[in-house]
Amino acid sequence: KKLIIINGPNLNLLGKREPNIYGSLTFTEFLKTLHSKYPKVQIDYFQSNIEGELINKMHEVGFNYDGIILNAAAYTHTSIGIGDAVKAIETSVVEVHISNTFSREEFRHQSFISPNAKGVILGFGLQSYELAIQSFL
Ligand code: DQA
Repeated sequence: KKLIIINGPNLNLLGKREPNIYGSLTFTEFLKTLHSKYPKVQIDYFQSNIEGELINKMHEVGFNYDGIILNAAAYTHTSIGIGDAVKAIETSVVEVHISNTFSREEFRHQSFISPNAKGVILGFGLQSYELAIQSFL
């Protein structure tokens, strides 16, 4: 299986950023554990703070990967463009969030990704990503 995790804005700061909400592990460290837990699964990783780069990556992988695990971060709540990209590609997208966005501010309750996602996993910390991977196996 060929999967990719795509992370949106500010997620490059995981480990340093609001650790009370997002934890103190860096994504690089977390990825290492994922790779060792799922040695037979190709798990690629891409992060960008730039909306168009996230869309370009989805177009690039969206017709030849088995699954996309997408945490569009703040763009989840604002980006019609990323929402449309999820619809435009063939590969299924599982939407992921580290925090439980429904227990937070009202503006985090809306998602432009969810209507076209295969499913949504949120609120389990970094484990949300692992659950998303398992959903593709
Ligand atoms: C997030 C939740 C978003 O509301 C927020 O803007 C993020 C991270 C999460 O993983 O919990 O940057 O997607």
